[in-house]
Amino acid sequence: MLVITLLKTHLTMFSKKEIIDILSDNSQNEELFRLADKTRVKYVGDEVYLRGLIEFSNICKCTCHYCGLRFENKAIERYRLSADEIIDCAKKAASKGIKTIVLQSGEDIHFTKEVMCKIITEIKKLNTALTLSIGERTFDDYKAFKDAGADRYLLRIETTDKSLYERLHPGMDFYNRLKCLKNLKKLGYETGSGSLVGLPGQSIESLADDILFFKENDFDMIGVGPFLPHPSTPLKDASHGDFTLSLKVMALIRILMKNINIPATTAMETLHQHGRILALQSGANVVMPNVTKADYKEKYEIYPDKSTNNNDIDTIKEKIISIGRIASKDFGFRKK
Ligand code: 5AD
Repeated sequence: MLVITLLKTHLTMFSKKEIIDILSDNSQNEELFRLADKTRVKYVGDEVYLRGLIEFSNICKCTCHYCGLRFENKAIERYRLSADEIIDCAKKAASKGIKTIVLQSGEDIHFTKEVMCKIITEIKKLNTALTLSIGERTFDDYKAFKDAGADRYLLRIETTDKSLYERLHPGMDFYNRLKCLKNLKKLGYETGSGSLVGLPGQSIESLADDILFFKENDFDMIGVGPFLPHPSTPLKDASHGDFTLSLKVMALIRILMKNINIPATTAMETLHQHGRILALQSGANVVMPNVTKADYKEKYEIYPDKSTNNNDIDTIKEKIISIGRIASKDFGFRKK
């Protein structure tokens, strides 16, 4: 009943209870996905923004229980690209028409404020937008990156359940994460957040809180994906997150937040053969082809099988066109 009622009344806000009801009831999923798709067409159109992802270091000082890059994982071969190699990847992507470069890494202390600013300055000469996804830093660092030309920043909250957050992120402080997000917004970044779906110990209620948190903070981008257990982490024996539930969380975010940018995440594609397309047809309008050099790509194993996906620019463009959408040539800032 509820989804059909929403369809008819075009509500823009749901209560926590309504969100929980929608997430718990699978009888109207198709209506939900259709409504999300309609909202996507109306507010952001048929263009799909391409973001060229460069995974420039898998070295990380954190010990997040779910992540294959965690410091304590000794079974992973670590790498770090030089500034020149990073800039080279960005140039190649830009030459193929990519208009946003995303620099992502573990929390690698080698990349000081000064080192990052040099890389940012060089990449901005390529006439692309630039997104950073390098974790928690000081206000001063975030300001320096912004002044050097960075446009956007991705920092998922991962879960808004404080006690679950602290269990999964030893040595990290939930309030510092919130402070980082606040600082990024204050500095004028287009700010992205998001969460993992299906973390052990996570409830439907807490997913509803995540959705309300994203809406309240009016983030410009939200990335949602299922948790996938990595064999070299403490969560190796946990079960993976549910694909449909991840899609529903994403669809609800589109319906509530209208004009934001939402990626069809790689984790969706890893868990389901057509995950990326289904996400694009249920609210998503962004894809992030991997433009890291092949020999490094496979070592950036946040979760298993990540690198085996068809993540290159040409394959992704073909998929976009095959579902009647347009591979955008635009920077893809949030539509106002
Ligand atoms: N499964 C799915 N996603 C993961 N991430 C980290 N580890 C996993 C995992 N095991 C996600 C986190 C992080 C993003 C870069 O990757 O949400 O923010």
